[in-house]
Amino acid sequence: MFGSRSLAGLGNIWRFSYMCYDNGGGAFLVPYFVALITTGIPLMILEYALGHKEHGSSALSFAKIGRRHEWLGWWMPVFVMFGIMLYYSVIIGWCANFAYYSLSLKWGQDAQAFFYKEFLGLSKGVFNLGGIRWPIFISTLLVWIVTWLICYKEINHGIERACEIFMPALFILTLVLVIWGVTLPGALNGIKWYLKPDFSKIWNLKVWVAAYGQIFFTLSLAFGIMITYASYLPEESDLVKNALITSITNCGYSFIAGFAVFSVIGYMATTKGVAISEVIDKGPALAFIVYPEAISLLPMLNKLFGVLFFSALLIAGLSSGVSLVEAMNSAILDKFGNRHQLTRAKVVTALCGCGFLGSLVFTSGAGLFWLDIVDHFITQYGLVVAGLLECIIVGWVVKAYILRKHINEVSSWKLNKAWDFMIRIFTPAVLLYMVGSSLIGEFSEPYGNYPVAALLLLGLGWIAATIVLAVAVTIPKWEPNKLKYERRPEEDHLIV
Ligand code: PHE
Repeated sequence: MFGSRSLAGLGNIWRFSYMCYDNGGGAFLVPYFVALITTGIPLMILEYALGHKEHGSSALSFAKIGRRHEWLGWWMPVFVMFGIMLYYSVIIGWCANFAYYSLSLKWGQDAQAFFYKEFLGLSKGVFNLGGIRWPIFISTLLVWIVTWLICYKEINHGIERACEIFMPALFILTLVLVIWGVTLPGALNGIKWYLKPDFSKIWNLKVWVAAYGQIFFTLSLAFGIMITYASYLPEESDLVKNALITSITNCGYSFIAGFAVFSVIGYMATTKGVAISEVIDKGPALAFIVYPEAISLLPMLNKLFGVLFFSALLIAGLSSGVSLVEAMNSAILDKFGNRHQLTRAKVVTALCGCGFLGSLVFTSGAGLFWLDIVDHFITQYGLVVAGLLECIIVGWVVKAYILRKHINEVSSWKLNKAWDFMIRIFTPAVLLYMVGSSLIGEFSEPYGNYPVAALLLLGLGWIAATIVLAVAVTIPKWEPNKLKYERRPEEDHLIV
């Protein structure tokens, strides 16, 4: 959701927890905060400034920089819409399922077995789809219908209002879990594991790449969302302050939620008598095992708490989904709106229809495998590469100091040349090094022990397909006045 951009998405709870667990807890936190400072904040300022200065969706903003660079402005929302969003909507669906299961604490004594066997019906491998899981199918369908309704009827105000209530609620519920969690036996071991940097793992490049990817994901950087959002901000907007508050509160929230996750993991390890790193399976299921466990462990009102917690998470996810459909819609209307008499209604219907069809495979018994592979490649190579190219184009073609001048005209906290250095040299160099070496690593050690064919097809193939699509929509010419257009017309205010 544009208006509630500083608030949480599923990335804070669902993705952060398993990234952190898979990458060694404390070993992950250091790179995570380094990534926030060296890439997250500078890029957030860049995206705000670009959209605000160019007054356009990501596609229009990059086309204004130069037609040669326009494809990047398409590629970002395209690979998010036809990559991330396809499985993200299924995870929003899981939240709906779990809100319902909370009514009876259906996961019982063994949340892990419930999740994999009963809920997901996990198949034997990537290419063994194992049929549609109907409860997941239904919730995913509902997610797309609601997303479509919100965008179609332009009732984004409604969801924004809902976010105003549900996001603080989500934060408070998380705090309750944190406070209760730390009193559990063994919780402190979990927290120690979470906070104590493990220097033997910290130099592992994989951990760094995962941390950088997570920063892109959680801050919606290189999604096209922030650029589009900023294009609708009033002329006098404090870009630096906005960007800083958005980034820091977002990551701060994930950090706090981590205490709830790791106290419960510490507790589970103690009761089962196993090591923390072995108590639970690695991968994207973690939040849907640990949070149900945590909810069952509460001393009272467990069911009510579960319903509220998963509903709040559902709203957080929905609002992120809507913001993305809006960003894609905005790019399409900017370029093709007038010429092809496209309306918002037609565009969002087509997007949500395609989105739903694309999500289907993730509702199958092999959905978790597909999700894991597509997410790994799109986040590490899609988001990070798009961020890298963004730095180069803005830093060298637009010239960082010109954008900085624009930023300083409207912001109360002024940027100095250090920002130019970050955007032009430091951040792209770090990202390039990481992408390059991790790509090489990809060949020597196949991700997650999946078959190489699956990795090539679902990972690199998926990315390649989105590049082709982005380039294809770049080819048609713009209406001549569009690229000169300075400001969004007043009445064209985005409903947020
Ligand atoms: N920042 C969002 C999150 O953390 C990521 C996202 C946005 C995903 C929009 C999909 C669509 O959840």
